[in-house]
Amino acid sequence: MAEQDQILTTRQGHPVQYNQNMRTIGSRGPATLENYHFLEKISHFDRERIPERVVHARGFVAYGEFEATGKIGDEPASKYTRAKIFQEAGKKTELAIRFSTVIGGRDSSEAARDPRGFAVKFYTEDGNWDLVGNNLAVFFIRDAIKFPDVIHSLKPDPVSFRQEPARILDFMSQTPESMHMLTHLFSPRGIPATYRHMEGFGVNTYKMVNAEGETVLVKYHFHPRAGVASLSSEEAAKVQGQDTGHATRDLFDAIERGEYPQWDMYVQIMEDHDHPELDWDPLDDTKIWPEDQFPLRHVGTMTLNRNVEDHHNENEQIAMGTGVLVDGLDFSDDKMLVGRTFSYSDTQRYRVGPNYLQLPVNSPKGVKGRVHTNQRGGQMSYGVDLAPGQNPHVNYEPSITGGLTEAEKKPNNPPAVNGTLTSSNLERTNDYVQARARYSTMNQWERDELVKELGGMIQEAAPQVQERFLWHLFMVHDEYGARVGEYINKTAEDVKHLEPLPTQNLTEDEKKRLANLG
Ligand code: HEM
Repeated sequence: MAEQDQILTTRQGHPVQYNQNMRTIGSRGPATLENYHFLEKISHFDRERIPERVVHARGFVAYGEFEATGKIGDEPASKYTRAKIFQEAGKKTELAIRFSTVIGGRDSSEAARDPRGFAVKFYTEDGNWDLVGNNLAVFFIRDAIKFPDVIHSLKPDPVSFRQEPARILDFMSQTPESMHMLTHLFSPRGIPATYRHMEGFGVNTYKMVNAEGETVLVKYHFHPRAGVASLSSEEAAKVQGQDTGHATRDLFDAIERGEYPQWDMYVQIMEDHDHPELDWDPLDDTKIWPEDQFPLRHVGTMTLNRNVEDHHNENEQIAMGTGVLVDGLDFSDDKMLVGRTFSYSDTQRYRVGPNYLQLPVNSPKGVKGRVHTNQRGGQMSYGVDLAPGQNPHVNYEPSITGGLTEAEKKPNNPPAVNGTLTSSNLERTNDYVQARARYSTMNQWERDELVKELGGMIQEAAPQVQERFLWHLFMVHDEYGARVGEYINKTAEDVKHLEPLPTQNLTEDEKKRLANLG
């Protein structure tokens, strides 16, 4: 590099002659106000941070590629979807993944008991596809209107600014659909060892659309080739005592060493209707789709092989959301998914700015310059998305004077939906049955850990909250209730007087369990 190339300049291109001392009258001051370089330097510094994400503030990005099998399980991918990313065996698509924790701030510990975000941005030839998932297959709630509440309960107390188990349990004990997620979160899988050793799940239910416009319901899964590894709370305490960012370091260092992490991607598929034969609703994200009934079908492999060059530009400013789908993929009516789809781009316009999609990390590089919009202006507008030969005066559509036109319409024939306007819960709630199945498949040591972790936390709740929480656990599984009850010196006898919550509509099976409680 020539000596001239290393000269410090301002962003206006002026070589900086004085960077050690501000301009003053005499060496002891006072300072003068017209000191442009000093003012630029300080005022840019004052604005270095953008608001951190309201959730998933701590995270880390890496880049890589997706390689398709050309199939969905044993069948040609085209049977279910026309999305180009899946069609040919060996077809590669660039991607970015951001892993994250959920509740802590931007510099918080990565060894917390907390779900992990697993958000993938595929830069496909048809534009970006974001699949914003987590490492656990289910979620706390099934309706987006409850999201601010569940997050407020998990975030620090607005007065003391401490995360308070009593507040978390207060909310969860009134939210029976959270029992399945909590049984996962407090199990030995609740603290992933690193980002490289965890699964990923789309969690919400999406659709695929084929060339004829036929639709199926779909769930997405990622399995790490490195295997799944987790930390106990004791191990996690030691790890975070040394390094609050161990998972970021692990991922960054592995990629620098050339040990590229890989995940196999699978989908589960269901016919596109409401499946009255199931005792849960396919649009309920507090439920898994049992793999014996809805087998995993391999669709490809993801490899991470490149680190970011700048944390702020590529990690803080990357913006992913569930609304970002490509042709051949679609939304289902999953009420969480629909709510999320509004929330992500809304927060990103606030957090990053209205032109966040012009930033390199967010722009659809897979379409190779084919971004042609009539959007203009807004803060920090950087370019104009003109098509070659487009009349620059025509930023509206339709026009007969050389403006942009609509794309060819592709078939889309989802089943018709009929209904009455309402604000109500899904009918098939069945909040305990899958939590029971999960508990039942745990080994003894896993149950021991779960009981210790959850029981320890319940001890910190108010007595009434403890009782209600225990009541739910007895509804899940007798042993689960009895063992957690030991922690708070309570048995089924102490909680059987409780009525179901007013929001609950118990199934026949649940009524029987309640009658036999204790
Ligand atoms: C981040 C909202 C449920 C996974 C976010 C952000 C918001 C949000 C506002 C910050 C985005 C940003 O600043 O760029 C919601 C709402 C939900 C919901 C309203 C429920 C209705 C979920 C669920 C999952 C999930 C069920 C898991 C499948 C994530 C991930 C991120 C995130 C991974 C971080 C994305 C990144 O790394 O940039 N969510 N979320 N969220 N959410 Fe959700």
